[in-house]
Amino acid sequence: MKTAAGRALDRIERLAHYLANAGVLPYDDPDSACWREALRNVPRHLFVPGRAWAQPMDDTAEHLIDLDADPGAWWEAVYSNSAIITQRGDGSTDVADVRAPATSSLSCPHIAAEFLRLLEVADHHRVLEIGTGTGWTAAMIGFRIGDDQVVTVEVDPGVAAAAATNLTAAGRSPLTLVGDGALGAADHAPYDRVHVTCGVRDIPYTWVEQSRPGGVIVAPYMTPHGQWGEQLRLDVLDDGTAVGVFRGGAAFMMMRSQRRPTKWPAYPDEGAASTTLLDPREPYQALQHGFGLALAAHAPRVTITSAGWEEHDPGEWMWTMRLRDLNDNGWALATACPGQARTDIVQGGTHRLWDDLQDAYMRWLRDGRPDRDRYRLTVTADSQSVWLDQGISSRPTT
Ligand SMILES: C[S@@+](CC[C@H](N)C(=O)[O-])C[C@H]1O[C@@H](n2cnc3c(N)ncnc32)[C@H](O)[C@@H]1O
Repeated sequence: MKTAAGRALDRIERLAHYLANAGVLPYDDPDSACWREALRNVPRHLFVPGRAWAQPMDDTAEHLIDLDADPGAWWEAVYSNSAIITQRGDGSTDVADVRAPATSSLSCPHIAAEFLRLLEVADHHRVLEIGTGTGWTAAMIGFRIGDDQVVTVEVDPGVAAAAATNLTAAGRSPLTLVGDGALGAADHAPYDRVHVTCGVRDIPYTWVEQSRPGGVIVAPYMTPHGQWGEQLRLDVLDDGTAVGVFRGGAAFMMMRSQRRPTKWPAYPDEGAASTTLLDPREPYQALQHGFGLALAAHAPRVTITSAGWEEHDPGEWMWTMRLRDLNDNGWALATACPGQARTDIVQGGTHRLWDDLQDAYMRWLRDGRPDRDRYRLTVTADSQSVWLDQGISSRPTT
């Protein structure tokens, strides 16, 4: 009969095997072998509270896990590809209160491993982590390169205290600071790597300033449109700027200061009405395939607050996209009426959001529908821009 420790080891091996087969930590890659070793030595279950909310990444429904009430389901969730929500509403409500937004979690193993690999850490690196959460990823990095080379910052004191307890239980001791990660941790700079585990739309320049030239910042870049995030890897240059590439999808809870409003002001009764033959579902479906970054490049303040079927009058359903300006300088509604070719547009404010979205979409089509790998992001001391890489225009002659 297996001991509890033996059963935990079996579960860890199954998770490591899953991540290898999913191509995230492949068996033939030495860097992945190091992260699999970290998985074994930093048991995930030590970072999960007895009562939490599991968000499986497959089609299984989200659910409460409770170690006392149903230990089997708790262990199953902890060692499956699930994010584990550990806090909602900044701690103002119960973790099972799904009306409140999730505000802290243990990231799902698949995405956590993708970001850790993107980081490309080496033994001699000093790493700054933003968003300690449960402490799991800080502990993994600490195991990999040494706890004394890792600084992790968490904005929520309660979350940070729980992380400190988890880290002690796991025998790990990275430096855990409470504060706003947007400020970095200047006292311990410079860093070779910055590992960001909360979503950001605007990259705080402090992270660039506190990194060495040649340093790397990885972050979930949550596009201004708000429907989809991207894995961003930035290289820090010796002129005080950073330039980066996008590597895949990501959905993360936002850094506190960059959250979108949960409630927007009511739509005014009147706006400028027009029609277009462009069906809003076309640009919407293209968001994940590069257009989201084109929109970030050409209309960086346009945010999509909802998109889908809405009942405008009883029994009358229309596909509706709602747009807002992130600085509240405009709004737009695009409504595709079933059975009619046209889309009705109403927009108001100083910023004509639908016009900007349609222009950006036409530009993206004209550019040949470039996918995420063609886009770049540059951060300087006073600006941030997404741009399309036009490629090498001339080749050396032989
Ligand atoms: C997805 S969780 C972190 C996951 C964590 N690395 C883990 O695997 O356990 C994101 C965390 O970022 C924290 N956070 C949000 N805004 C922050 C900020 N401005 N500075 C530092 N942490 C922040 C949240 O409180 C939350 O705990």
